[in-house]
Amino acid sequence: MSELLVTVRNIVKSFASGTETLYILKGVNLTVDRGSMVAISGSSGSGKSTLLNILGGLDRCDSGSVRVGDTTITGLSEAALTGYRSRRIGFIFQFHYLLKDFTALENVMLPAYIAGMKKKDALEKARSLLDDVRLSDRLQHYPSQLSGGERQRVAVARSMVNDPDLILADEPTGNLDPQNSAAVTEILYRGAEKWGKTLIVVTHDDKVAERAMVRLSLDAGFLT
Ligand SMILES: Nc1ncnc2c1ncn2[C@@H]1O[C@H](COP(=O)(O)OP(=O)(O)O)[C@@H](O)[C@H]1O
Ligand SMILES: [Mg+2]
Repeated sequence: MSELLVTVRNIVKSFASGTETLYILKGVNLTVDRGSMVAISGSSGSGKSTLLNILGGLDRCDSGSVRVGDTTITGLSEAALTGYRSRRIGFIFQFHYLLKDFTALENVMLPAYIAGMKKKDALEKARSLLDDVRLSDRLQHYPSQLSGGERQRVAVARSMVNDPDLILADEPTGNLDPQNSAAVTEILYRGAEKWGKTLIVVTHDDKVAERAMVRLSLDAGFLT
């Protein structure tokens, strides 16, 4: 039987805009099985990033609840949320956010090393992940020496280094040309599969969405 990893109940999120309140999420419900791969589409401004940020504990909703595994994150303190993010979530954004003064290998190993893994083990894990994203010959390259697609593949490897429960990807191919976009998509899904990860990817690229097991759409504040 499948196990539920994510349960989102009726989340509402608004932003104040001048004297107005804009309701972006109006009662979003979502359940995701462990090991599933879910794509969420929706036009620009529909609230995709807002939803992903709430799932990842980067932002808070006004009401409703989010449970990931055995943790109801909507009730956590800021300190507990920070721990949740670093231990349980792997993030991939449209922009890679690699550290420019560190090599590809260091960028991937650092989150594990910071989380307390021995340096030797963190390096070994990082090497193995960079091998999975086919960058074994780019370990000592700095971000400035990598192509856009290669940087995003490093970001995919980094997202998995702490063995998170959930990978959250926000427009991971948004800055890439079609060829690199296809390569990153393939690597993201294959990596999630190989490492047994649950993936939620937000995208308006049909080619990214069509690989998912579950396809949802965010429209007018609701997920359908
Ligand atoms: N911090 C914020 N303050 C005010 N409005 C925001 C904020 N973040 C997002 N919004 C608004 O919420 C809407 C949804 O944004 P977003 O989640 O980024 O959409 P998407 O990722 O689908 O393009 C947009 O209209 C945006 O302007
Ligand atoms: Mg967005």
